[in-house]
Amino acid sequence: MKILITNIKKLVQVEEIPQKWVAGSDMAKLNCIENAFLLINNGKIDNFGTMEDYLKPETWALSACKIDSLVGAEIKHINANGKMVFPSFADSHTHLVYAGSREIEYIDKIKGLSYEEIAKKGGGILNSAKKLQEATEEELYEQALVRINEIISQGTGAVEIKSGYGLTTESEIKMLRVIKKLKETTPLQIKATFLGAHAVPAEYKSNQSEYVDLIINEMIPLIASEELADFIDVFCDKGFFTIEDTERILNAGMKYGLRPKIHANELDFSGGVQVGVKYNALSVDHLEYVGNEEIEALKNSETMPTILPGAAFFLNMIYAPARKMIDAGLPVAIASDFNPGSSPSGNMKLMMSFGCVNHRLTTEEVINATTINSAYAMDLSEELGSIARGKRANVFITKEIPTIEFMPYAYGSHLIETVILNGKIIN
Ligand code: NIG
Ligand code: FE
Repeated sequence: MKILITNIKKLVQVEEIPQKWVAGSDMAKLNCIENAFLLINNGKIDNFGTMEDYLKPETWALSACKIDSLVGAEIKHINANGKMVFPSFADSHTHLVYAGSREIEYIDKIKGLSYEEIAKKGGGILNSAKKLQEATEEELYEQALVRINEIISQGTGAVEIKSGYGLTTESEIKMLRVIKKLKETTPLQIKATFLGAHAVPAEYKSNQSEYVDLIINEMIPLIASEELADFIDVFCDKGFFTIEDTERILNAGMKYGLRPKIHANELDFSGGVQVGVKYNALSVDHLEYVGNEEIEALKNSETMPTILPGAAFFLNMIYAPARKMIDAGLPVAIASDFNPGSSPSGNMKLMMSFGCVNHRLTTEEVINATTINSAYAMDLSEELGSIARGKRANVFITKEIPTIEFMPYAYGSHLIETVILNGKIIN
């Protein structure tokens, strides 16, 4: 199946030579082609260029298709006059498999209840864990599928999903099996992360290291034997897991080939960033508490600093210093953190708006942060995150919009008209 999109007002995030990420002042650059065409063939991006060049033979030198094959029943033609084409968003940090919701807690928070008071009322991560333990695999799958379909319509083409609301061996495995089924049955590119160390279950409160032992000795070997996870995560922060716990868990996971992605520095200068870099984490995420030491640690590392603007907004927290990180030469990725407690939205276009308004990033920077850089943060930047020949054809066509800036600016408007995943029109 071929799809030919012509008269594209702007083809956004085009790469002639694919990069693994963009950093520092390069984040303000975005390569685009005006009045463009895009050819998709067999699920892959085959060719692109300007409409003026469309008929020139040299335009087709690198293409698997020849121009005279682009007529007839085998090809779907879309005229995108006035519309733009973007690579799909890569959402590199979510917890979108969960049971029920926690809106009552949200109201308690607005009324002024503290995190501790909410926890005492049975709220927080342990509230979601209780609900998840009671839900069947089928119920969890059905609820997650609704969220998956929603984020697909909002332009997401790849998503990382964490466990971490199970907190028992049985329920963590149940969650990861649901993620596996979502991988097998939806058109999204999905990566699974084992986050047994998301919270300490009540029965281990006075003996946290015993819970860490359970993660290391029981959960990780079982999860690895069923090949249920791609990555391993720890909530390394004040009141949750210590540096020592984190190192023990990462060492155990890495023996089974699970690369770390860390919840770090959301609540304090926890040392989470440094421990992530030490263990060559793919990303360190949240980063509200980041200063010069953390920035120095991240320089020359292979670890993607990832901000979660939805969580900072929803919890009314201080904002991660993304501007400072980029000005210091670092790359930055943006993800949604879609979860029932701190960010009940997986809308990446909205995350772009938060990135602009609250973190002072430009449109070009938030587009790089939600595509190529977030694709790197889930080890997919060779395959996704830009319009490059040979990459997977995960793209969306906007409605008619005047500029790229209009995307984060019109923060409440649904501007995505057509979604193409794996070279097929989804909706
Ligand atoms: O990434 N920070 C830790 N975990 C989640 C919150 C999960 C919850 O409240 O259910 C997060 O924001
Ligand atoms: Fe999270």
